[in-house]
Amino acid sequence: MNTFEILQKAAANHYALGAFNCANTETLKAITNAAKNLRAPIILEASDGEVNYIGYKQLVALKQIYMEEIGVPVILNLDHGKDFEACKNAIEAGFDYIHIDAAKLPFEEAISVTSEVVKLAHKHNLPVEGEIDHIEGSSADHRKENPEDLQDPKLFSDPEKAREFVAKTGVDVFASFVGNLHGIYATNMHLNLNLLKKIKAALPNTLLSLHGGSGIFDDDVKEAVKTGIVKVNVNSEMRVAFKMSLQELLNSTDEVAVYKIMDKPISAVQKVVEQKIKLFGSENKT
Ligand code: G3H
Ligand code: ZN
Repeated sequence: MNTFEILQKAAANHYALGAFNCANTETLKAITNAAKNLRAPIILEASDGEVNYIGYKQLVALKQIYMEEIGVPVILNLDHGKDFEACKNAIEAGFDYIHIDAAKLPFEEAISVTSEVVKLAHKHNLPVEGEIDHIEGSSADHRKENPEDLQDPKLFSDPEKAREFVAKTGVDVFASFVGNLHGIYATNMHLNLNLLKKIKAALPNTLLSLHGGSGIFDDDVKEAVKTGIVKVNVNSEMRVAFKMSLQELLNSTDEVAVYKIMDKPISAVQKVVEQKIKLFGSENKT
């Protein structure tokens, strides 16, 4: 199955694929172990910073080798591609899915750059995800802040504008902002599910993604998936699990061969990934 077919299958069967950020070998192992254990198709993704750290071609090679080893579908996604050049690099290196984040550009410019990316990606039979409403926050530990302070309804996606953007660009997946912040906060957050339903009604033939998959109430995530979300991005909860586990470990060992002590951070991240796969309903969907 190609990437389009994997996503369409999720949409038809009302589950979502987890899109998990790959920061290093340990998170890669955690994500692929979880996918293998739960027989779940997954999206492995790398943001600009992660691509700069690991490399486009290296990510493509690693994804291919791990996918063959675990025997479940793995889609490699450029996460929040920052411009046409970054998307082109990922397409040419062999990524399977492209997210162009034009949210900080004026609407007409966002349409223009997204359309260029769609043109190139579609030549390679790759889906493109577009974004025009900046998803607030950052993939970090914001537990001293309240989510409500960043969930400004004035910044949320407008269904009519979303419809115009999709019609003019031809994106396959739309990333909306309905209260889904990047990062984890003092409390879990609610989504504006009514707004998400209106966006789905405005875009009946477009797939929807949900960014900021960390720290959202489980019931809201389940309802969002029922509404038509087929991809949920998760990063912060994995980052926090990795860092906390590593910190605890380094305070309690004299071992200097680091590969010998990575089991615990890997398991901590794997646990997060497995919980999310179950929540999104993609277990046993290979
Ligand atoms: O693109 C990546 C994500 O949207 C991750 O969001 O850090 O809140 O899980 P998160
Ligand atoms: Zn995101």
